[in-house]
Amino acid sequence: MINIAHLSDIHITKGNLLHNVINTTAIFETLMNELSLAEREIDLLVISGDLADSGSLISYEILGEILDRSKKHFGCEVMLVPGNHDAREPFRRQFFAGNKTTFPTGRLDYAIRVKNWQFIGLDTLDEGHDYGNLLPTQIDWLQERLADESCLGSILVMHHPPVDSPTDGMSKIGLQDKDRFRDLLIGSNVKLILAGHYHHFLCADFPPAKVLVASATAYQIDPLSAPGKLRGYQGSAFNLIKVSDDADFFVTQVHRSHPDSPPVLNSTLEKLGIY
Ligand SMILES: [Fe+2]
Ligand SMILES: [Fe+2]
Repeated sequence: MINIAHLSDIHITKGNLLHNVINTTAIFETLMNELSLAEREIDLLVISGDLADSGSLISYEILGEILDRSKKHFGCEVMLVPGNHDAREPFRRQFFAGNKTTFPTGRLDYAIRVKNWQFIGLDTLDEGHDYGNLLPTQIDWLQERLADESCLGSILVMHHPPVDSPTDGMSKIGLQDKDRFRDLLIGSNVKLILAGHYHHFLCADFPPAKVLVASATAYQIDPLSAPGKLRGYQGSAFNLIKVSDDADFFVTQVHRSHPDSPPVLNSTLEKLGIY
């Protein structure tokens, strides 16, 4: 069994409020503190892109500090991939400078092994565009990685989901060439695809895998947005995922309407009469 905390779309700013109202740094810090206090076992912490809102080095430094504390607390591995709001060079400088990770594809793709699962981070950022894509070098590299049969299976982490959103606006800026990506995975050992970008939860079949899109910690996109429109609202969420050695998965969403406000119920099971 492996336990994963899957967060996405943190959108750390340089110090200003996102959309003039959202303190994305305070929200992320609050959620990470709550996760630490919850005494859950976490083997891997995933953030599937848009770590920063505008790709500034200072926002990666701020996020890196908070992340280091959580990593130390859980003694867990961390996997980070960039999203369309990130900038590749400062991202690499903050999170990969000085370690031995090599990037043979020209983008920040890499694989790690956690509890005998192969986690493959795919960098779908095409700088200057909101949609995402994969280069031919990345496809070749991914196929090489998927030939590794010494693991329980592979779990992909990527910012742009390979499936549509219920909103046409977000679907238009998902992964390009979804059909080609779907064909690529047929017959592979990929069991799960963890993505972000849509700012709302989504779970979908993607044979032989399932796609799990974590919502954003920054703010939520309303899946009920009218065609041709996108509506966003305050609120934060992330996923806790358990995957058995047979690849059965269990996902639950942690949600906060207003992360800075106190809980309306905070009592012991004994006081609540629950035994
Ligand atoms: Fe985002
Ligand atoms: Fe995004």
